[in-house]
Amino acid sequence: MIFLMTTPKVDFMTDQELIEAARAAALRAYAPYSRFSVGCAIESIDGRVVTGANMENACYRLGICAEVSALTAAQAKFGLDKVARIAVAGGDGSDTELAGGMVCTPCGGCRQSILEAAQLGGRDIEILCASGDGTRHDRHRIGDLIPHGFGPANLANAG
Ligand code: THU
Repeated sequence: MIFLMTTPKVDFMTDQELIEAARAAALRAYAPYSRFSVGCAIESIDGRVVTGANMENACYRLGICAEVSALTAAQAKFGLDKVARIAVAGGDGSDTELAGGMVCTPCGGCRQSILEAAQLGGRDIEILCASGDGTRHDRHRIGDLIPHGFGPANLANAG
């Protein structure tokens, strides 16, 4: 008897598809205070995708960024250690499509949260920072966005 060993084909998103998923997620932002809608899409090493959007609060400092919202979805769906790529897009979400020409980069706090996932998985996570209208993006690695960061790896010598 002959066994054919086949590995299932994984459909990874193109850069633009991941950005479009982030832009679509931004339309579900709850951002009545800043009126700046941010969406984030996270792809796992095996091609699964989750999204999140910012969720503000009347007690302003309790607002949650899109990246952290998406990271919690990633944790639930496939685990933080499996995060491979992230797309972020931010702008005006008041219409049927996210708008705005400025590239949105993760804030400092989100960089720290992404670093946690990066060190857990042992990979330098790629981050596509897109404009609201999706026409522009910059490609970064978390290691570039938070150089000399402090993450779980730095706790190796804890007692
Ligand atoms: N925001 C994010 O969701 N991600 C970032 O990396 C930058 C900022 C949100 C927080 C707040 O709801 C709004 O954008 C304006 O700062």
